[in-house]
Amino acid sequence: MSSQSVLTVKRLTKIFKPDITAVDNVSFSVNQGELVAILGPSGAGKSTLLRCLNRLIPRTAGEIRIHGADITRCRGRALLKLRSDVGMVFQQFNLVPRLTVFENVLAGRLSLCSNRLWSIASVFRIFKEAEKQKAFEALTQVGISHLAAKRADSLSGGQQQRVAIARTLAQEPRVVLADEPVASLDPASSHRVMGILKKICESKTIPVLINLHQVDLAQQYADRIIGIQDGSLVFDGPVDQFTPDIAKTIYGAEFESAVCSAGTSSPPNTAEKETFAA
Ligand SMILES: Nc1ncnc2c1ncn2[C@@H]1O[C@H](COP(=O)(O)OP(=O)(O)OP(=O)(O)O)[C@@H](O)[C@H]1O
Ligand SMILES: [Mg+2]
Repeated sequence: MSSQSVLTVKRLTKIFKPDITAVDNVSFSVNQGELVAILGPSGAGKSTLLRCLNRLIPRTAGEIRIHGADITRCRGRALLKLRSDVGMVFQQFNLVPRLTVFENVLAGRLSLCSNRLWSIASVFRIFKEAEKQKAFEALTQVGISHLAAKRADSLSGGQQQRVAIARTLAQEPRVVLADEPVASLDPASSHRVMGILKKICESKTIPVLINLHQVDLAQQYADRIIGIQDGSLVFDGPVDQFTPDIAKTIYGAEFESAVCSAGTSSPPNTAEKETFAA
């Protein structure tokens, strides 16, 4: 694995008015091809941290750099570019239900077009061949190109999350952030989605930063764990150094549910794995 740093966060702080410190002086960096799981109890600040990283919300203080460039002050076109550089995957997929799978993935190209061009293209459903090709490649990478013509709302939760990942890949991000991407999925689908995110990291050397509630999934798939408690970074190290004692300290009363989670099933069998194409 290359040790080139893609994302660097220094002394990041987010205070919600009047005085909720959701992220407190957090510093870390993420390297190319690294899968980093962010763990911590409910309300620890995991989602707020990811939202600051892609500028969905403004940070109060601190630095965020992608490939060395400070992203905290960018505006206008630079902010649009940032949004395409930082792919985001959500727990609830955020697909457009009445559109096809393919159209949803094409939406991933939105951030790469001007808004006006995109509106014209989407209204008349005209897209350049190259755009379609990128969208199809992304669907192939997550193993669901055969579902391209289906309406998004006709798919299972696991399939919808794969569409959402394909949409993110179609925007050709430099880093992917995922906020509890498997929280709404059954154990087998959770493993499939985690496996796809892992392959994206490995084959495209894009770092992936994932908020998770399941310690066991983090241990199976991540290279590194960041532990957050009350907004502060309290652990940052390789998975094998994340001991049960450290987990107990971070989770407190939530320890049992975090360790005995939906992710405790085995990874999918070989036949299911054939659907991974990334
Ligand atoms: N928009 C907001 N306004 C005010 N306070 C907020 C806002 N969003 C989050 N908070 C607070 O910030 C803290 C961190 O919340 P956050 O959602 O980041 O936690 P989390 O670790 O993602 O929790 P969970 O695991 O339940 O998703 C909490 O105290 C929460 O109440
Ligand atoms: Mg959250």
